Amino acid sequence: MAASVFLTVNGKQCEVEAAAGTPLLTILRNSLGLNGPKYGCGLGACGACTVLLDGKAARSCVVSVEAAGRCKNIVTLEGLSPDGSDPVQKAMVTAQAAQCGYCLNGMVMTLRAFLDAVPNPDEKALQEALRYNLCRCGTHVEIMRAARIAAG
Ligand code: FES
Repeated sequence: MAASVFLTVNGKQCEVEAAAGTPLLTILRNSLGLNGPKYGCGLGACGACTVLLDGKAARSCVVSVEAAGRCKNIVTLEGLSPDGSDPVQKAMVTAQAAQCGYCLNGMVMTLRAFLDAVPNPDEKALQEALRYNLCRCGTHVEIMRAARIAAG
């Protein structure tokens, strides 16, 4: 049975109808038309669906809409910087990190949360931060180059 859930997404409050336990990713994409977060595995394993929940990277395919409703703000790629001017996004372009680009939402959001928490990471910390974000095209070398650029 569906019920109303109130969410704050990219700074805007909204009300959605959702069955109990519906993944946040489903709501973001299907109800709110936010297609930045991608459906990859649906199991919390690939990172394609990553969003920021109160500033922390979270895999929206395994977060229920009810849990998301308890967050002060949910940020998707669309809310990170509508014009693509976030330094992490710019670094991905500079490094030509995308091949198919499907994983990049997760890479960008994970890296954004990490750099907000750890402003001057070393190489090992950067690798560790992106360790569980998967790219099926195998462009991890370029993605790491982008991560180094974004980290300054
Ligand atoms: Fe959420 Fe893979 S789709 S982690």
